[in-house]
Amino acid sequence: MDATDLFLAGLQLYFITMNWTVERSYCAAPITEGSDCFLCPETHEFCTAHNPLFLARPEWLRLATCFSAYAFCVGYLVILWAALTDGWAKLRAPILLFIGAKMYALIYYHTMEFTSETPPLGLGAYFGVEGPYLLAGVLVIRKVMAGSLNPLKARRSVVKYSSKRVPKAATQRALEAAIMAPNHFLSEPWRFYTCGPETKAKLCGLNEDKRKAAEAVPEWLIVTLASEHKLTEKLGLEDHAATACAVQNFMLSLASEGIASKWMTGALGAPPEAVLECVGAGRGEKLMGAIWYGYPSKALSEDATAPRRKKGLEGVLTACA
Ligand SMILES: Cc1cc2nc3c(=O)[nH]c(=O)nc-3n(C[C@H](O)[C@H](O)[C@H](O)COP(=O)(O)O)c2cc1C
Repeated sequence: MDATDLFLAGLQLYFITMNWTVERSYCAAPITEGSDCFLCPETHEFCTAHNPLFLARPEWLRLATCFSAYAFCVGYLVILWAALTDGWAKLRAPILLFIGAKMYALIYYHTMEFTSETPPLGLGAYFGVEGPYLLAGVLVIRKVMAGSLNPLKARRSVVKYSSKRVPKAATQRALEAAIMAPNHFLSEPWRFYTCGPETKAKLCGLNEDKRKAAEAVPEWLIVTLASEHKLTEKLGLEDHAATACAVQNFMLSLASEGIASKWMTGALGAPPEAVLECVGAGRGEKLMGAIWYGYPSKALSEDATAPRRKKGLEGVLTACA
C-alpha cells in the first residue's frame, strides 16, 4: 500500500461517513435548521453560507440522494477494499463502472448548481467540500489505469529502480502468472525463491565489484530448474523451456502493473552454485536466473524502444509453403 492508497482509503471512509450521516438523513427528510443527525447541523450551517441549493433541493433530487446514500456506498467500499489490498487490477471493471456513474452524477449536479438561481456563494468553500470527490475520481482512474499497460510492449530489461516498495500482492500475482506457463506432462519444473533482507544481503555480497548495482535492486526472485531429466535429453530441454516461459510470465505480469524487471545470469558476477546456496536451493536444481524487479526510476511505457534486434523478424522467419 503506497501513500496514494492510504489517502484514497481515508477519502472513502469520509465518503462512507457522509453517506451514513448527512445523505441518509437527507434521503429520509430535507435537512433543516432543527435537524440533529450526526453532522447535520454543521451541514446546514455550511450550506446556508456556501451552497444554498443543497438545502432547497426539489423532491426528485432529494430522492436521488437516497440512491447516492445507499448505492454509492457500495462503490466506495469496493474502492476502499482495492486501496487496502492493492486490488486495483482485479476490481478494475466494477471500479470503472462506478467511477463512470459517479462522474456523471457529479457533472450533472455541479452543472445544476452553477446554473441554478442560487449558485454556490464561495468557490473556495464549495470545492473544499465537493473537491475531494473529484480528486478521488481522478486518483482512482490513475490507479486503475496504471495496472493496464500492455506488458508485451512495456516490458524491457531495466536496471534503474526507484525506492518505492513493490506490494507483496503484485509479487503474488506475478508468481501465480508464472505457474500458468505451458509445461509438458505437467512437470512443473520451476522453483521460485523470493528474497528477504537477509538473503538479499547475501546475494549482494557475492561480488564486491557489483555490490552497488545489486544493492540498488528493490526485489530479487531466484528461479531454478528442478527437472528429473538431463539437459541433454528432450524432456530436460522441455522442462528448461517451460521454466523460461514461467520467468517470462512473471516479468509480463509485473510489467502489466508498471513494475520493471531484469533477468540476470552472467552479469551477476557470481557462480550459479553460490547463488543457489544463498537461497538454499534443493539438490540438483539448476539456476535459471535472478530476476531483479521493482518500480522503475522512469515509468514503463508501451513506447519504450527495445534494444535493436539485429536479425529482426525477416532474419528468423521462414514462410513455409
Ligand atoms: C536467460 C537470460 C539471461 C540474461 N542474463 C543477463 C545478464 O546476465 N546480464 C544482462 O545485462 N542482461 C541479461 N539478460 C537480459 C538481456 O540482456 C535482455 O533481455 C536483452 O538485452 C534484450 O532487452 P529487453 O529485455 O529489454 O528486450 C538475460 C536475458 C535472458 C533471457
